[in-house]
Amino acid sequence: MKILIFGSSGFLGKNFLDHPFAENFQILKPDRAEVDLFDINTTKEYLQKNSPDIVINCAGKVGGIVANMNNKIDFMIENFEINRNLIISSLENKIKKFINFGSSCMYPAEVINPLDETQIMNGKFEKTNEAFALSKIMSLKLCEYISNSNDEYFYKTIIPCNMFGKFDHFNDTKRSHMVAAVISKVHHAKENNLSEIIVWGSGNVRREYTDAFNVADFVLRNLNRIKEFPNYFNLGVNKDYTVKEYYEMIMEIYKYQVNLVFDKSKPDGIKQKLMSTSFPININWSQPRDLKYSLNKTIEHYINYVK
Ligand SMILES: NC(=O)c1ccc[n+]([C@@H]2O[C@H](COP(=O)([O-])OP(=O)(O)OC[C@H]3O[C@@H](n4cnc5c(N)ncnc54)[C@H](OP(=O)(O)O)[C@@H]3O)[C@@H](O)[C@H]2O)c1
Repeated sequence: MKILIFGSSGFLGKNFLDHPFAENFQILKPDRAEVDLFDINTTKEYLQKNSPDIVINCAGKVGGIVANMNNKIDFMIENFEINRNLIISSLENKIKKFINFGSSCMYPAEVINPLDETQIMNGKFEKTNEAFALSKIMSLKLCEYISNSNDEYFYKTIIPCNMFGKFDHFNDTKRSHMVAAVISKVHHAKENNLSEIIVWGSGNVRREYTDAFNVADFVLRNLNRIKEFPNYFNLGVNKDYTVKEYYEMIMEIYKYQVNLVFDKSKPDGIKQKLMSTSFPININWSQPRDLKYSLNKTIEHYINYVK
C-alpha cells in the first residue's frame, strides 16, 4: 500500500515515520518545499503524478493557547486553505482513502464531559480557539460530505486528544503544548537548581493526553479497516489529570521537587476536555503506551536529543 503523508516534518508526522509499522508501507513524505499545500496546483500535480492509495494529512498550523488567541485570522485561513486544497485535490485525483485529523477544540465549550461525537456542533466553541475550531469543523464536514456522497470514498476524521511525545515542540513557546512545556520547565529548574516554577493559570483544569506514538499506532495498525471507521471519531485514553498533576508526575520522574506558583492572572482555557473514546476500543485496539511509560520515554528523548 502506498501512503502519502503530508506534514511529515511535524510532531505527529514524525511519529508516523518513526513507528515500526511504517516499514510495512511504501511511504511518500513530501515536505513543504516540495509541495506547499497553499498552492492547489502543485498539490494536484503531485497527487496525480504519485497516485497514492491513501493520503494522511498531518499538515496544518498548530499552536498553543496564546498563539491561537493572538493569530485568529492565520489559524482559520491557513488551516482552511491547507485542508480544502488537499481534500479537493485528493478527490479530483480519485484517491479513495483519506485520513484527516481533528482536535478536541472542535467540541463546544459548555458541554458535559466526557465529550462524545454527537456533541460536535452542539454549542459555541471556547473563545480562545474558535478560529482554529471552525476551520477544523469545515474539513471534518467536507470529508463527511465526500464519504456520504460516494460509497467508494472513505474520507475519515480522527479526533485525537492532546498529544505529547517524541518530536514534540519542547522549547518553542508559540507551538508547544502543555506536557512538552512542563518537561522543558522542570528540566530547566533542575539544571539551574531553581526552587520554584511559575505555572500558567490555576493548575486545576483537567487535560487528557496521549502519546503521539499511540495515534500513529492506531492509524497504521487499522488502515486496512478504514471502511469500518465512522466518519469521525475520538481517539483518546478515557482518563484526564489536572495540570498540577502533570507537573507532579514529571517532577517525580526528574526526582526534583519545586514549589509550584500558580499565576491565576493567566487564562486557564476550558475547565475539562475529556473525550469519550469508544470506536477504537470496540475494534479491539488498545493503546500500546500508557502515560507513565510515555512520559519516561519522552523525557529520555528530550534529554538525549533536544535540550
Ligand atoms: N499536537 C497536538 O497535541 C494535537 C492534538 C490533536 C490534534 N492534532 C492535529 O494533528 C495534526 C498535526 O499536528 P502537529 O502537532 O504534528 O503539528 P506540527 O508539529 O506543527 O506540524 C505541522 C506540519 O504541517 C506542515 N505544514 C504547515 N503548513 C504547510 C504548508 N502550507 N504546506 C505543507 N506543509 C505544511 C509543517 O511543515 P513545516 O515543518 O514546513 O512547517 C509541519 O510538517 C494537526 O491537524 C493537529 O490539529 C494535534
